[in-house]
Amino acid sequence: MNHLNAQIYYNKLALKYDQVTKDAWSAPNRVEELTIQLANQNTTILDIGIGTGQSIRKVYQSEKFKTIEGIDVSDVMLKNCKESYPEVIVHCGDFLHFESFTLPHYDLVICCGTLEFIENLDEFFLRCQSLLSKNGDIVLTFEPRISGHPIQSESVSEVNSERQVNDAHLITYRRDVDHFYSVVRKYEFTVLFQSLFVSYRKLDVDVIYMLMHITNRVSPTE
Ligand SMILES: C[S@@+](CC[C@H](N)C(=O)[O-])C[C@H]1O[C@@H](n2cnc3c(N)ncnc32)[C@H](O)[C@@H]1O
Repeated sequence: MNHLNAQIYYNKLALKYDQVTKDAWSAPNRVEELTIQLANQNTTILDIGIGTGQSIRKVYQSEKFKTIEGIDVSDVMLKNCKESYPEVIVHCGDFLHFESFTLPHYDLVICCGTLEFIENLDEFFLRCQSLLSKNGDIVLTFEPRISGHPIQSESVSEVNSERQVNDAHLITYRRDVDHFYSVVRKYEFTVLFQSLFVSYRKLDVDVIYMLMHITNRVSPTE
């Protein structure tokens, strides 16, 4: 039940999340570069693990959306999100099991810095498949497993106590890129773009993330 660990961890971190991640956590910027290109005034957006809302900041300011909804297990992160972005509809719960989204389908699904806490990729993509509009897009990040990397060579590890929220036992799941691709294809999605980037630095080591733009379009070039 890693979502319960995430809830404990992020409820504690929430009070200083924006402060500790400022200029140190690049994933939201990378996600925003793609979402801002994909969104327009008619786009319905769902952000999985929206946190304090860092990944919807630009799209919110640009007003290139019809609705933005976000889900997160941490009510304290969501409270901060709502204060910064009052028009965002927030839901508190585990993405894999939440049943009360406002809309049946969303044009654009965002998942930034959250997939590493969700163990079952199949369940994640099944839910995305059911929640995504026809011709919909997913912009996500995940943490790849990188053999020989000082931090990222294991597929599973516990987030350690350096942020002083160590009673949560939060697990990080890293993915083999080939396996990730095979799951994407299994649910009939197509990867349109992928790029590795440095997401943050930990103990002077670069932590590498993958940014992906995925679609369910039958003719992805349209
Ligand atoms: C690293 S933070 C990322 C927050 C935001 N997307 C950002 O990039 O700043 C991960 C977020 O995912 C949330 N989370 C983890 N597992 C979740 C789950 N199963 N369902 C919903 N939210 C989850 C956490 O509570 C936390 O707010």
